[in-house]
This record gives sequence, structure tokens and C-alpha cells, in this order.
Amino acid sequence: MKKIEILDHISERSLMAVLVVDQVEEAINTSKALLKGGVSVIELALRTSVAIEAISAVVDHCPGMLVGAGTVISLEQVESVKKAGAHFALSPGLNTNIILESNNCDLPFIPGIASPTELQLALEVGCNCLKLFPAEPIGGLPYLKSISEPYKHLEVKYIPLGGINIDNFNDYLSCPEVIAVGGSWLTPKTLIKSKDWGNITAIAQKSVEIVAKQEIY
Ligand code: 3PG
Repeated sequence: MKKIEILDHISERSLMAVLVVDQVEEAINTSKALLKGGVSVIELALRTSVAIEAISAVVDHCPGMLVGAGTVISLEQVESVKKAGAHFALSPGLNTNIILESNNCDLPFIPGIASPTELQLALEVGCNCLKLFPAEPIGGLPYLKSISEPYKHLEVKYIPLGGINIDNFNDYLSCPEVIAVGGSWLTPKTLIKSKDWGNITAIAQKSVEIVAKQEIY
């Protein structure tokens, strides 16, 4: 899929679940539970030894799930996640070499930014869809509104992550520059560990309902 198609899909779905797993099975079952609840975009973070294998397993076993590789912070990881079949990649921060490498591999990349300087570096290498991280601790929606103001004419888009939860995610979605929000509120570790797939589906469903209500008004 082309970057524009990936971003359109993320924007249509509005929600991105952040997934950190210790076992490949956890990734598959959590993804199935999310899909059942209507959440079809994940960031599967490269923070555990099984992450790459888990990405490829979710791509193979969960059709309909758009799989982003998260915490991609080295050039080698770009190649590995592309090979594993990730549809796109993200990172908490910005590394222009990694973005250029992703462009070479045809892997859509969403870098993380937290300041205007980082934002401008991202624009310089052709990225105008950015992960705002960590959204809540750096100032939440008021910060997002301030930082986005000077770049509105460039149509920069944001996906805030970090500290977002079921009670505050909708405020972010009301901002026209925000195409989606993400976080681990959709995938609580306790529910993954207790294999409580039903409750993961329930949280996904509730979150999707909140998004749908907002779209009506
Ligand atoms: C990320 O990688 O985007 C964060 O780990 C998500 O942050 P959260 O756990 O606060 O949702």
C-alpha cells in the first residue's frame, strides 16, 4: 500500500492500539480481539524479543489489521520490519536517516516529534504526518494546538500518543489536524496477561462507539 492509502486508512479508523507482547500468540489473540471490537490499526512496538515475529504473525493471521511497527529506532529495524510485512512504521522520536531508509524501502514512516524543531526536521525529509509523543505529559491538546498553528498552511497531520485514555482521546479527535489517536488503553497488559480477550474487545467497541458518536455531531 502507498503511504497516502495507509494514512487514509488510519484516518478513517481514528484509533491505533499500541501493542507490546512477550509472546507471538498474545499478538495474534489481542489483534483478533481488537478487530472484533472494530479497531483495525495497531502499533506493535519493537520492545520485546518476539516483536518482529509477532508482526509477521499478525500480518499472516489477522487479515484486515493494518500493522504498524513501533519503536523503530535503528536502520536495521527498518529492513527487518519491512521483511516481516509491516504496513508502516513509527518511532517515538525523529531520526532523519531512518526516515530516508524507510523511503528507500518503500515503508511509510510516521516519526515522533515533541517540538517545533523536530517538526521542521520531519518536514525537511518529506514527512507531514507525525506522531506527537508523549502527547499528554508535554501539554496535551493545548500544546498540540500551539505547536500546529504555525504549520497549518502546510497541512501537517498528527497522531497523538502517550498518556491518552478512553476519557480524553475524543478531545484530540476534535482537532482537525489530528487524523487518529493511539495508546495502550486499548490493550491493557493485565488483560493480555490474563488472556481476557472479551474485555479487550469490549474496550475496543466502547472506544469505536465514542468515535462514531463524535462523527454524528
Ligand atoms: C507509544 O509507544 O506510543 C506509547 O507507549 C503509548 O503510550 P501509552 O502507553 O501512554 O498509551
